[in-house]
Amino acid sequence: MRLILVGPPGAGKGTQAVHLAAHFSIPHISTGDIFRANLKEGTPLGLQAKSYMDKGELVPDSVTNAMVKDRLTHADTANGFLLDGFPRNVAQAEVLRAILAEKKTPIDAALELSIENAEIIKRLSGRRTCRGCGKVFPGQLEKCDACGAELYQRDDDKEEVIARRLEVYAEQTAPIIAFYRHEGLLITIPAVGDVADITAGAIRALSQKLS
Ligand code: AP5
Repeated sequence: MRLILVGPPGAGKGTQAVHLAAHFSIPHISTGDIFRANLKEGTPLGLQAKSYMDKGELVPDSVTNAMVKDRLTHADTANGFLLDGFPRNVAQAEVLRAILAEKKTPIDAALELSIENAEIIKRLSGRRTCRGCGKVFPGQLEKCDACGAELYQRDDDKEEVIARRLEVYAEQTAPIIAFYRHEGLLITIPAVGDVADITAGAIRALSQKLS
């Protein structure tokens, strides 16, 4: 299964990706997580990405495309992958199509998580992320229930940055929905309600599409 998750910030892409990747036994590749891991290590890539992420802007395509192209050469992607947060504009979608066409391994589906802005703002302003393993939490907990590390608020989860991320999504990312609809790959599901119900709905829709 080669799957793309599409949806605005806070739609629950990361949350659903963990369950879907486990269900389909494929690696979860999140460009945001890769940038944050690099930042934690203090690499030049991480420092470069931070200047864009902190403002809610997209990291330049040249940097992001090269990073994803390299990641897709790793052996664990041989039987598929789940891309979370990439592509994020039509140019990235075209680059991905070209990379996969060369390998003769096209995308199977693009799963859109649909949600209203008011719910996004509520979720993101309350979100806490684990410094150790990156797990996300909806509430005001202090320690991660998976690894025990401290939780923190992401710099880009401040109110003014959330507003800019939503604008960037509408202007630059939303057009990829039409792109994947045109390719016959789009599946849209509502992203509100119980997390397990959303996962079950996604698995049903994906299994139907691939049968
Ligand atoms: P990235 O890390 O990809 O952030 P994002 O797309 O803004 O997505 P989020 O991680 O904020 O939200 P999510 O949809 O994963 O939701 P989550 O599951 O956490 O990107 C960050 C930045 O990196 C970008 O702004 C950009 O600068 C850069 N970047 C990344 N990719 C790039 C690319 N391709 N090109 C250029 N730049 C790039 O859930 C949110 C909250 O809601 C959590 O607290 C969660 O617990 C809660 N929640 C989840 N599901 C539910 C539910 N059903 N009900 C109630 N609460 C829920």
